[in-house]
Amino acid sequence: MLALGTSTAIRFCKQGGSDFILNAFSQGVRHFDTAEDYFNEEVLAEPLGTTSGRREQAFITTKFGRHDKTAQNVRESLNKSLKKLRMDYVDLYLVHDPAWYKEGSLGEIWAAMEKLKEEGLCRAIGVSNFQEHHIEELARTWRIVPSINQVEMSPFCAHDAMFQGIQRACEKHGIVISPYTSLAPLHHKQHPPLDEAVQRIGRARGMSDTQVLLAWALQTGKGPVVTATAKLERVQDYLGTFAFVLQPEELEEISRVGKQVSYRRWT
Ligand SMILES: NC(=O)c1ccc[n+]([C@@H]2O[C@H](COP(=O)([O-])OP(=O)(O)OC[C@H]3O[C@@H](n4cnc5c(N)ncnc54)[C@H](OP(=O)(O)O)[C@@H]3O)[C@@H](O)[C@H]2O)c1
Repeated sequence: MLALGTSTAIRFCKQGGSDFILNAFSQGVRHFDTAEDYFNEEVLAEPLGTTSGRREQAFITTKFGRHDKTAQNVRESLNKSLKKLRMDYVDLYLVHDPAWYKEGSLGEIWAAMEKLKEEGLCRAIGVSNFQEHHIEELARTWRIVPSINQVEMSPFCAHDAMFQGIQRACEKHGIVISPYTSLAPLHHKQHPPLDEAVQRIGRARGMSDTQVLLAWALQTGKGPVVTATAKLERVQDYLGTFAFVLQPEELEEISRVGKQVSYRRWT
């Protein structure tokens, strides 16, 4: 599954943002990723809100959080998000970033998230940017295991100690990893040996470079990959990824060459 993110590429394009979302939906995108922190949840309201006739076909993720928010803000935050989205529920509500909250407060925040799920305001709850120790901190008191941990995962960080720890904790507790910034080699960090490997695999398989990296992320991370674009023509390219499955040796080559670089864009 691919999710179209509304941060990065279209974060600031409130003008025309709703048309862009509607167009992406018409092309087949169903999962949209937004957040309180992106200040643009409104762009989803017209194309996908309750009265759009499309709400039930879409999967909407939004996220709790800004710096210094507390457990007392969780309900109010989701209600504000729902109002902006013009929806009665979201499909997935995530705790955006554990580094933003007071030390020791993650358990209380999670307990507030659990209540919202039980009330049906969100169909699933999860976390984002949680490292191994954050997951273990939650595990001490959780009643509901997070369904997803949305984290940075590109060939340049999937080998590092932070990601290995995340993977260990997620596997142990049955949490799905949802990768973002998996296209970093195309737009943030050049590494000619990786570019060469991606292009060669793409030529041999009839895939674009973008599709090779998205397929790598889908098959390596195993959960929904959150990507983004400001260009509608890119949407078909992204969706075309599902026509392909990379071979184990192709996945291994991308991972092995990516290991030559240590790079994280966000965390
Ligand atoms: N939870 C979190 O803390 C967190 C953090 C970061 C991101 N996210 C989510 O993940 C989403 C995606 O993040 P991201 O933008 O970093 O993801 P990404 O998938 O790594 O990159 C998407 C970008 O790749 C560019 N791209 C695609 N194919 C390309 C090519 N062949 N050559 C050059 N550039 C190419 C697109 O550019 P064009 O716009 O030109 O098409 C687009 O801006 C965000 O919008 C957000 O929803 C979440």
